[in-house]
Amino acid sequence: MNLFNKLVVFILPIVPKVIIHMFAKRYIAGPSLQDAISTVRQLNVNGMCATMDILGESATKKEETINAMDEYHNVLETIRAENLDCNISIKPTQLGMKINEELCYNNIKKIVEKARNLNNFVRIDMEDSQVTSDTIEIFRRLQKDYDNVGIVIQAYLRRSVTDVNCLIETKTNFRLCKGIYIEPREIAYKDPQIVNKNFSYLLEKMLQNGCYVGIATHDERIVWEALRIIDELQLERNSYEFQMLLGVAEDLRKILVDSGHKVRVYVPFGEKWHAYSMRRLKENPRIATYILKAIFGIR
Ligand code: FDA
Repeated sequence: MNLFNKLVVFILPIVPKVIIHMFAKRYIAGPSLQDAISTVRQLNVNGMCATMDILGESATKKEETINAMDEYHNVLETIRAENLDCNISIKPTQLGMKINEELCYNNIKKIVEKARNLNNFVRIDMEDSQVTSDTIEIFRRLQKDYDNVGIVIQAYLRRSVTDVNCLIETKTNFRLCKGIYIEPREIAYKDPQIVNKNFSYLLEKMLQNGCYVGIATHDERIVWEALRIIDELQLERNSYEFQMLLGVAEDLRKILVDSGHKVRVYVPFGEKWHAYSMRRLKENPRIATYILKAIFGIR
């Protein structure tokens, strides 16, 4: 971590909530489901689909996990009622992973079941490496009975190539991203060039094997690699999609949409925006840097 990043992490806790909000509001639809609906509707009008995420993670009480599950049921019903082109993304630790794996499995299963009844899809986000194995285990159990559920693979993890080799056998629906959590070197590649190479390597493996992939990046070097692979494999437009976070790289997003690629935008919403933003910032000083640059108008 360079000196500037260390400084950023050091001063963030004393940055007033109102300033963090000034920054975070660009990345978060708002505190309510209604905010998320308006954001998704606008994205749909502009030719993009979306995935909604209710902010919150690391639940410590069973009731919290049940509430989160109920909220997701409500989100799925609302997506249907409002006729939105939108699925959902869920975090295992919000649904009980840190309390009891079986509780988490049952909560996710009920959400996936509900989504299937409503003809919708559930993406299981990937959190830090402490829960990678358990998350994949839950996904594999669900995959036996449901085809409307997908998983996330992080290109920075050394283990990902082994995970992908297993998961392509069952034609898994993937989201591939770099990975956002701070991990030790034994677990994750630290060199950004290696992470990018691994991203391309894994993406090629997934697509070559006929898996649907959500290519989740704002990095144009990776977008180029993806376009190269798509061209080489002569893939149909409906065998992959690009995915981006709300408020990030909107110009690149538009370029992709205008050239006919499917683009899905990740739309987080909810009351827990502050805790989420602060955690993200502390976890990833690079993003913290974006925030400070945004605050001080540095380009
Ligand atoms: P990189 O970080 O190199 O960014 C490339 C460029 O994009 C930067 O130079 C900058 O211009 C811009 N940029 C990126 N992030 C920005 C930001 N926050 N603000 C402003 N500009 C920014 N991770 C994870 O561990 N588990 C998960 O489940 C998910 N899920 C997920 C879903 C979706 C739809 C996306 C797009 C990303 C994730 N991620 C994730 C996060 C992912 O792992 C990664 O941290 C970010 O996407 C940033 O990586 P990039 O590939 O964009 O490259």
